[in-house]
Amino acid sequence: MPTLIIVGAQWGDEGKGKVVDHFAAHADMVARYQGGNNAGHTLVVGGEKTVVHLIPAGVLHAGTTCVLGNGVVIDPKVLCGEIEGLQAKGYLSDPAQLRIDERAHVILPVHRMLDVAREAALGERAIGTTGRGIGPCYEDKAARRGVRIVDMLDPRYFADALDKILSERGPLLKLYGEEPPSAQEILDEYAVYAERLRPYVTDATQVVADEIAAGKRILFEGAQAAMLDLDHGTYPFVTSSNTVAGVVGSGAGVAPKHVGRVLGIAKSYTTRVGAGPFPTELEDEVGAKLREVGGEFGATTGRPRRCGWFDAVVVRQAARLSGLSGIALTKLDVLSGLPTLKIATAYECDGERYDRVPASVPALTQAQPIYEELEGWTEDLSGARRFEDLPEAARKYISRIEQLTGAPVTLISVGAEREETILLRDPFLL
Ligand code: IMP
Repeated sequence: MPTLIIVGAQWGDEGKGKVVDHFAAHADMVARYQGGNNAGHTLVVGGEKTVVHLIPAGVLHAGTTCVLGNGVVIDPKVLCGEIEGLQAKGYLSDPAQLRIDERAHVILPVHRMLDVAREAALGERAIGTTGRGIGPCYEDKAARRGVRIVDMLDPRYFADALDKILSERGPLLKLYGEEPPSAQEILDEYAVYAERLRPYVTDATQVVADEIAAGKRILFEGAQAAMLDLDHGTYPFVTSSNTVAGVVGSGAGVAPKHVGRVLGIAKSYTTRVGAGPFPTELEDEVGAKLREVGGEFGATTGRPRRCGWFDAVVVRQAARLSGLSGIALTKLDVLSGLPTLKIATAYECDGERYDRVPASVPALTQAQPIYEELEGWTEDLSGARRFEDLPEAARKYISRIEQLTGAPVTLISVGAEREETILLRDPFLL
């Protein structure tokens, strides 16, 4: 089956963008199905950096159609800016390369304002959201008062829908001491976006269905990651959408029988941005070294990422939840020079052993990782192109990850550039 889902197996920022970009060259279509511009991919091609937040990472390949599925939440201001930026670099010259689903929900200024105001009011107890309005937009979707792309294209209907939202959200914003923009201001601003986006808008579920029927290779690009999943993640320190592979069904309108393989992306260590439990976090010089060598600062907010050892409990859980047929292990090069490496194999909490991530926040907060120590290596890995090019200690580290997570490592990334990749197996054929 020529469909492949790519999902994050930790807390996000695993390097999904690079892996999607890698396989997009062999895909006819790349589709997103959840999340919004809380995501961010930094793509490096020929030394030139391109950052995308909404448009799938496949956009750098002219022959690959990019889809924003109905499950994505779209900030039209950000999307218009992204389209313009890509076109200025010579990408996306054909509007048919980007398809936006008419049922995707629209992020409004009140969503962004509410996200930021709430976080500020929470102070120490904040989630550490990206402040992009993602949560409030999904809330309005679930509350059945959201504005979809198709609604934004119809000025009369939009005005009516906006009135409903503002009558709910306006007083709330005032409670936080914020003055929402008037309906007219929003309508005027969004009318400009509506006209710019109109050529791209369609029923994308049909576009995807046609590609499936034609036997084309489709890559579904997940955003965020298993531990940020609204149901399965470290609730409440999660994002507002489901992130596990099964969500392709609702977020892009794809029936289960068409879903093929799933590739999980895991960093060779662990990082997390925002608040919430992180059992293997290193608040010492090793953590600082990982941050510095790995350039661990958020692509979306620039925030320094929290860093820690590889947590096999987390990735094993992600492998189970999304049915990973393989793992792409990224940033292996960053570990060079550490004399010993640790992998968490289980947790201990109140004298009890956990082989899974506990649901209880206090239990997870107190969880002590049970570590296994492995030998490190000193070699620079950036030139490695075959598994055999890796030092023995690195190969052992990878094998141990495979044993502990139950999923084979099928790709290894040893640098940010496209070529700095070791491909062990074609994930479409796993
Ligand atoms: P939100 O998605 O902006 O509501 O943020 C909720 C949580 O998810 C916060 O901890 C964010 O830092 C985290 N988050 C959201 N998107 C990403 C991502 O793409 N990478 C890493 N963390 C993310």
